[in-house]
Amino acid sequence: MNNYESHEIGRDIVERYRKKTGQSGRHFEAAKNWLPGGETRRASYFTPYPTFMEKGEGCYLYDCDGNTYIDMQNNYTSLIHGHAHPRVTEAAKSQMEKGVVLGSAAEIQYRHAEYLCNRIPCVEAVRYGNSGTEATLFAMRVARGFTGKEGILKMDGGYHGMHDYAQVNIFPEPKTEGLPEPWAEPWIPRNLLKDIYIAPYNDLETVEDILKKHGAQIAAVIIEPMFSAGGLFLPEPGYLQGMRELTEQYGILLILDEVMMFRLQYGGLHTHYGITPDIVALGKIIGGGFPVGAIGGRRDIMELFSPDYPHPIFHSGTFNGNNITLVAGLATLELYDEAAVERINSLGDRLREGFEKSIQNLGIKGQVTGMGSLMTVHWREDMPKTARDTFEGLLTAWDLAGLFHLEMLNRGIFSASRGMYVLSTPMTEKEIDTAIEAFTGTLEVLRPYIADTLPQLLTT
Ligand SMILES: Cc1ncc(COP(=O)(O)O)c(C=O)c1O
Repeated sequence: MNNYESHEIGRDIVERYRKKTGQSGRHFEAAKNWLPGGETRRASYFTPYPTFMEKGEGCYLYDCDGNTYIDMQNNYTSLIHGHAHPRVTEAAKSQMEKGVVLGSAAEIQYRHAEYLCNRIPCVEAVRYGNSGTEATLFAMRVARGFTGKEGILKMDGGYHGMHDYAQVNIFPEPKTEGLPEPWAEPWIPRNLLKDIYIAPYNDLETVEDILKKHGAQIAAVIIEPMFSAGGLFLPEPGYLQGMRELTEQYGILLILDEVMMFRLQYGGLHTHYGITPDIVALGKIIGGGFPVGAIGGRRDIMELFSPDYPHPIFHSGTFNGNNITLVAGLATLELYDEAAVERINSLGDRLREGFEKSIQNLGIKGQVTGMGSLMTVHWREDMPKTARDTFEGLLTAWDLAGLFHLEMLNRGIFSASRGMYVLSTPMTEKEIDTAIEAFTGTLEVLRPYIADTLPQLLTT
């Protein structure tokens, strides 16, 4: 819970937020009658209450009080073209007229899959589901089926969705010394912890130690090509290549979770690092704004899903490969060509530089991590290197981050409450510069608050 209203500046920011978003506040009170805590998605919740949005168009969002925001959250990275892009909308509309899901095989399924195979060099065949969660679940399952081993090595603080195996160490293990060990909340089966191995991101030595000892039990390593929830920081030079070599050496599959990072490079971010994973987990932008997940990879591995395979993996789902998602998804991907990727990434560079300059000019210690169209602002003295650093910084500056987010909303910028900023292709330099201006104004308002509550974050 936040305690920011104990400070005058905090009270003022919250009061202005409440004044601006009165109808959202009333919706929230009503929602609490029917939804536990008034919400149904932890990531969209923040205090004192979330903004209730009514409409999105391009890179703008409109709330129920008539306020306009630049959308810098983009449904947590899935809306690459912002809202209601005319071509995507047209594609989805024309499919709606023919039926949303026909409960049958359809040409669009292999057309979308063919497109992914042509675009992502390591993908030779694809299976669809409805979320990134399903993608990583089935990536792990097929890795077990293929290798005959059960263990999964994941990174401390790595996020791969909501299923039980993915929920181990989504937050770094609470202890702060020594190597992280597998841990999970009490509602995740204890039994499963024995099959999960944990290493800090960017620590190849620990991975090698684990593989030396347990390689014979481990089916796959799952990792992101940039570490999102752990702090949105980059792999160190040679790290992913080293991971590829080690996994090959120990007969372990490498699952690259590209659910979020795919947007950063035309063929997926792993292509930027020149590695070839065995399996990629996909989601978010490939569904054109509709729910989606997919796994793709080496044909001999993917063949385990084929009903012709001697003992196939049973993979089904009411909405798998539904027409509307794939039609909208294909239109979206076709629009997101190499030039579009490059353009949005360079807008991201402009935003990151602008944020960094404001932080510096105002004499505050903050770090901006990320790459291209994704970035996260950390209120801490030095660059986070591990998920532990990120979470320690987050907890220390919890109220500051909450107030920062609210004041940005007061100034018309809708971002992820955890400090992540996400771009979409309808944005131009105008929106980027408006966001930098709002960021600077917010920091100016909060500087005295920082001086009172976190003086260690001031450089002067
Ligand atoms: C890296 C990563 N993997 C998996 C997922 C899960 O995707 P979904 O929310 O569609 O289940 C997410 C979601 O944010 C993600 O960022």
